Amino acid sequence: MGKLIGKKAIITGAAGGIGQAIAEKFSNEGADVALLDMNIDQAKHNASKLIAEGKIAIADHINLLEEDSIKDTFSRLKESFGLAHILVNSAAIADGGLLEELSTAQWDKMIGVNLRGSFLCCREVIPSMKRNRWGRIINIASEVAHRGHPGLSHYAASKAAVIAMTKCLSLELVEDNIRANVLSPGPTDTSMISGLDEETLSNLLTDLMPIGRLAQPNEIASAALYLASDDADFCVGMTLNINGGTHRL
Ligand SMILES: NC(=O)c1ccc[n+]([C@@H]2O[C@H](COP(=O)([O-])OP(=O)(O)OC[C@H]3O[C@@H](n4cnc5c(N)ncnc54)[C@H](O)[C@@H]3O)[C@@H](O)[C@H]2O)c1
Repeated sequence: MGKLIGKKAIITGAAGGIGQAIAEKFSNEGADVALLDMNIDQAKHNASKLIAEGKIAIADHINLLEEDSIKDTFSRLKESFGLAHILVNSAAIADGGLLEELSTAQWDKMIGVNLRGSFLCCREVIPSMKRNRWGRIINIASEVAHRGHPGLSHYAASKAAVIAMTKCLSLELVEDNIRANVLSPGPTDTSMISGLDEETLSNLLTDLMPIGRLAQPNEIASAALYLASDDADFCVGMTLNINGGTHRL
């Protein structure tokens, strides 16, 4: 307990399964948390549960497809929340489609939310982290970025690019006592995969998951806590794979 006392953490996608679990985990470890999402009602609901427990939590709207929305949100946060120590880029979209059938709009939206959105949020928090002389950036990728999978070229490409971006960023920031790393989960029990029918899910578990089950969001959050804490001071531009054995690097 108490690994993040005195820290202010911003979590995008905090209306979603993994983002919410990370917000709760960080809050339980003493961080003040800002829950950002385009689904503001759910983000507010998640924040209110923490506030009811006496924690400091706020929720705000962000649309990662709109640079102005991102700038406005981070500038509001600087006033109402303070200088960020930790950023987790958990917000993302996923959908399927063979590359030869993907529309350009589908491709652009995927890259726009998952890669460009993460880039813009990173850019917003760096000045605060430099002023704090301490920072942690955790970008969320996916095991698909390493393994590949038919029908997910746009999603996998966006996540592979997030990994490459984070490696470069980690080197740009290392002397400022800011660590940037990637958390790369395997299939996790959230709304992102809840649309799968039983047969697809069963095939996924049989074909892909040596561990025989999905991850729970709390397990991904525990890995995020490690990367957010002082314990991860020696981690620079690494990817922490937490995937039940879908692939082994
Ligand atoms: N669930 C999985 O199986 C799985 C596996 C590997 C990686 N991941 C990654 O983990 C992260 C969290 O995923 P999750 O499972 O919690 O998904 P989720 O769908 O439950 O949550 C994603 C959140 O992102 C938000 N979002 C989407 N587009 C947005 C936009 N334009 N602006 C602002 N917010 C937006 C959604 O409203 C949602 O609350 C994602 O980066 C995802 O790619 C998930």
